[in-house]
Amino acid sequence: MKSDPFYAFVATVLKLGRTPKGYVRSGRRADAIFKTIFKGVKPTILEIWEIYTQHRDDLTRKLVTTKESVVAYLLGFHLTNMARASVLFERSDARHGWKKLLKGKKVRVYDIGCGTGAMTLALGIHDAEYFMIDGSNPLLEAAAMLAEEMDLKVKTTRRVIEDLDPKQFATREGEDTVHIYLFGYVWNELTRNNTARRKLTTLLSNHIKRKEKCLVFIAEPALEQMARSTMELRDVLCAAGYVALYPCPHSNHCPMLDRPKDWCYSEGEWDQPPLAKWIDEQLEMTRSRHAGSLFAFSSPEVGLTSDAARIVVGRPVRDEGKERYKGFFDYLVCDEDGITKQTPLAPLQVTARGMILDEKVNASQPPVKRASGKKLDPPTKGPGGAKSEIRRAPHTSAERKGVKK
Ligand SMILES: C[S@@+](CC[C@H](N)C(=O)[O-])C[C@H]1O[C@@H](n2cnc3c(N)ncnc32)[C@H](O)[C@@H]1O
Repeated sequence: MKSDPFYAFVATVLKLGRTPKGYVRSGRRADAIFKTIFKGVKPTILEIWEIYTQHRDDLTRKLVTTKESVVAYLLGFHLTNMARASVLFERSDARHGWKKLLKGKKVRVYDIGCGTGAMTLALGIHDAEYFMIDGSNPLLEAAAMLAEEMDLKVKTTRRVIEDLDPKQFATREGEDTVHIYLFGYVWNELTRNNTARRKLTTLLSNHIKRKEKCLVFIAEPALEQMARSTMELRDVLCAAGYVALYPCPHSNHCPMLDRPKDWCYSEGEWDQPPLAKWIDEQLEMTRSRHAGSLFAFSSPEVGLTSDAARIVVGRPVRDEGKERYKGFFDYLVCDEDGITKQTPLAPLQVTARGMILDEKVNASQPPVKRASGKKLDPPTKGPGGAKSEIRRAPHTSAERKGVKK
């Protein structure tokens, strides 16, 4: 691999980003140029952020179509989307070992609504054929640059989902293929696009009908409406024959859909490289801890089964007198029998949503104080992680000289 995803990100920002008129790049340090580019697009990042988080109904495909908005998307969202995707890939692999099953197989990865390719880059499988599909050309161009930095074998296609041809997603004769679908923050953009939603579910159910090997990874925001819509999609996929791998311990109806006030999401930590921390400071955000509605599935032919684990899906404050017990919590645990409350036994270690609860049930346990500020779980490597600092990966020969030592 030529580069790691964090360096690929920095190199792409430097290539695509604009600096003010009269600004001379040569002789300047790469991180200084990076910061200047960031400052130029900061208002656009905040604008996109507001639309994504508060006015999603305004969301149209036209949102990220200019070069400037692509750089803003890269700087504001790409790395955190990768960090969340890494949690999904790492945890589902830790529970089911799906990565080792790919050895010796033809692997085709379809990143649908790929944007800048955060899911592809987080997947970290080098020997695969990647198909990056999106309706936006400028985003695809950025995705192609990032993939090239990572030395991935990628084909980009500008096409809206509704126009995808299901025949192109079939296993070719004589090949032992594993199809991998990546859907990052795209399902919720299709709320009013039933044709596209139907196309996606058709593509996926075709693999079941044809008895093909297929893995599906979905990341969506942890917000109530979007997470619940993803949980509904999860039920549709399981009803079509998919095996739920993550976070679900079974493939039956999602019990949380019957609880109108709850929704399913995973929590993760990301050991941010210094530049990512700097971006968060500039945006007045903290995203070293993050959350996402994350799901993984496989077709039966992959040979995996749901693992009947006990998964933390909530941490409600205890019912008995919210004031008196302020800061005390139970776990909501999802297992084969549905969702139950469990009082934690180990008050100093908070198990994150989406993780296996490694404690025995003990309902008579007295309430324990919330261990605020404690680590939720080992931080994911994420894009770059702590080991990656800009100074370890000079990206272009001109900028290499200027990179801080
Ligand atoms: C929020 S972005 C997410 C990008 C990327 N998957 C990620 O994880 O960062 C949603 C992407 O879906 C694309 N998109 C939305 N509707 C689409 C459609 N009908 N056909 C193709 N792409 C679409 C947008 O262009 C955008 O790149």
